[in-house]
Amino acid sequence: MTRQPLGIAVVGLGYWGPNLVRNLHEIDAADVVSVCDRRSEQLSRVKRRYPSVEGTQRFEDVLANPRVDAVAVATPVGTHFDLAAAALRAGKHVFVEKPLAASSEKAQELIELAEDRGLVLMPGHTFLYSPPVNLIRKLIDTGELGEIYSISTSRVNLGLHQPDVSVAWDLGPHDFSILRYWLNETPTHVSALSRSCIMPGTPDVAFINLEFPSGTIAHVEISWLAPSKLRRTTIIGSRKMVVYDDTSSEPVRVFDSGVMVNEPETFGEYQLAYRTGDILSPRVDAQEPLELELSDFCQAILSGDSPRSSAELGLDVVRMIEAVDSSLEGNGSRVDIAEFRVGIS
Ligand SMILES: NC(=O)c1ccc[n+]([C@@H]2O[C@H](COP(=O)([O-])OP(=O)(O)OC[C@H]3O[C@@H](n4cnc5c(N)ncnc54)[C@H](O)[C@@H]3O)[C@@H](O)[C@H]2O)c1
Repeated sequence: MTRQPLGIAVVGLGYWGPNLVRNLHEIDAADVVSVCDRRSEQLSRVKRRYPSVEGTQRFEDVLANPRVDAVAVATPVGTHFDLAAAALRAGKHVFVEKPLAASSEKAQELIELAEDRGLVLMPGHTFLYSPPVNLIRKLIDTGELGEIYSISTSRVNLGLHQPDVSVAWDLGPHDFSILRYWLNETPTHVSALSRSCIMPGTPDVAFINLEFPSGTIAHVEISWLAPSKLRRTTIIGSRKMVVYDDTSSEPVRVFDSGVMVNEPETFGEYQLAYRTGDILSPRVDAQEPLELELSDFCQAILSGDSPRSSAELGLDVVRMIEAVDSSLEGNGSRVDIAEFRVGIS
């Protein structure tokens, strides 16, 4: 029997970790019993807000704490594997912020550790819980948009330059997880172009092309170097088109627009009919994705069901980022993602 509420520890209290603590406090199935950060100032900041929660600078204390059923990791990506593996070996369920690990081998190792022990391992792909993203998934799944021809997306703003990872490892997981979730497939080929404008060796702008087995093509633009914040995705379907702007109060707009090809009267004379119909802005629920995501983590532990943001999806996302890196090493070469398919043992 799993106890309720679940005792949860949050490790890493920098920029993102305090958001996990705040949202977990809103969830009935969760009880934040411990918070951990190596840096005392980060720890004190959170402890001031939640004085009854135990605080420690030593991760070992979290692992040894019998009140901790699950660990939520919000530390830099280079540390994800060691912390998550140690928590799984100590018998704790693990939520680990995106990306799941710094390589597909490490991500696969975590999946096997969790499976062997019957524990939940969930990567934090927050956008899979975003109401607009789910509304669009429904439009795709029900066939309302028709065949998805192409998707282009811009996720750019000024900063924050990360000291240890490229923009592809930092922002890429958001678009890659959304595309994987919408299309329910991983790309076959990836090619990318990037530039390290500010810090040598750390790409801060990237243009990435993805080709999917169904024929859909996607273009992802990510950058820490842009004058204003853009979170804009355009989806072109054979029946309808969608513009998703995550910064807008009307985040999803469905365009009843398209092109029809009429049968040629004589050989080669195609008649194209352009259709520009209504533009609809469906109502979107105002729920915080992070709270929905952490609730799903708790439910996965309690029910044994796989969370929407599954470890397998997390592994696919890591493989997509590795393919981007490989393309960049090959000066923008078109990389077959099968090279990064880690063997399931
Ligand atoms: N889901 C999202 O939308 C979202 C948004 C931002 C960041 N993130 C993810 O959250 C993670 C953290 O990012 P951040 O921007 O908060 O980083 P950050 O550098 O601001 O904070 C990381 C914290 O982890 C602590 N830390 C590092 N190693 C530790 C260890 N071994 N034990 C205890 N504490 C340790 C550091 O002292 C620091 O306070 C990353 O994986 C990032 O990709 C996710």
